[in-house]
Amino acid sequence: MTDRYAVIGNPISHSKSPQIHKMFAEQTGQDISYEAILAPLDGFAAKIEELRKAGYKGCNVTVPFKFEAFQLATNRSKRAEAAKAVNTLQFDGSRIFGDNTDGVGLVRDIQVNLEFPLKNRRVLLMGAGGAAYGVALPLFDIVGSDLTVVNRTIEKANEMIQAFEIRGTLVSLYRYDDGAFRVRDFQVVINATSTGLSDEMPPLPDTIFARGALAYEMMYGRETPFMKFAREHGARAVDGLGMLVEQAAESFFIWRGIRPETAPVISALRKQR
Ligand code: ATR
Repeated sequence: MTDRYAVIGNPISHSKSPQIHKMFAEQTGQDISYEAILAPLDGFAAKIEELRKAGYKGCNVTVPFKFEAFQLATNRSKRAEAAKAVNTLQFDGSRIFGDNTDGVGLVRDIQVNLEFPLKNRRVLLMGAGGAAYGVALPLFDIVGSDLTVVNRTIEKANEMIQAFEIRGTLVSLYRYDDGAFRVRDFQVVINATSTGLSDEMPPLPDTIFARGALAYEMMYGRETPFMKFAREHGARAVDGLGMLVEQAAESFFIWRGIRPETAPVISALRKQR
């Protein structure tokens, strides 16, 4: 019998996840179905219950339900605990396992697909909202004390770092207007703010990029002001399409125990643009 999976969000019609998982299933010969499901804003838990009763094996969770999914999970991975958010659920009898594959997706896209090793690099993470929480721990695990976080609201960045029990002495925190922050030149700058959505530019100084730096925009689909700024300042600007496919591959692995090839899927999606 075909095992059923889905992605749940609101909105959801734009989601590329069904297409990605269909390609993974074809490639690995796994007999699964995967659909996009719209849940009402106040109806996430009920929708999950419905899917479990219908025999679904798991689902991906996207905006705005990742925090609710975290609450709903009966047991969670360490990286989900750190992110305080869950993007992957696995149903097993009365148990609901919650994981977060965003961070590992980002790290794998940067290190494997873009061939940019993160260890011993000076890395800047911009933002301290949901997207930043999702990736901060896996990033810190590799980058360690070379990780710097910058956020408009310093208290929120502080909270995020505390939540990870990362010692403040190891990770540097800045506001954009800190004098000390302005002189830094980073080898990797990751945009985990929501500025791309509103077509805004985070207030970065011209000196932000080191020579040959990578500028990573976690959003995908079009060039954001951050990507344009990066390109104009000599950095290599990339969007988050690779991360999207990598986080999906990690979910697929959790559910099916098989790791699909991501490169052909990323290139197929790029060709559709
Ligand atoms: P998401 O889930 O997309 O991360 P969020 O939780 O609302 O959304 O977080 C948005 C992030 O983008 C925050 O880090 C926010 O900064 P604040 O914590 O100071 O609010 C950041 N952000 C949004 N607009 C910004 C702007 N114009 N300049 C800089 N940072 C911005």
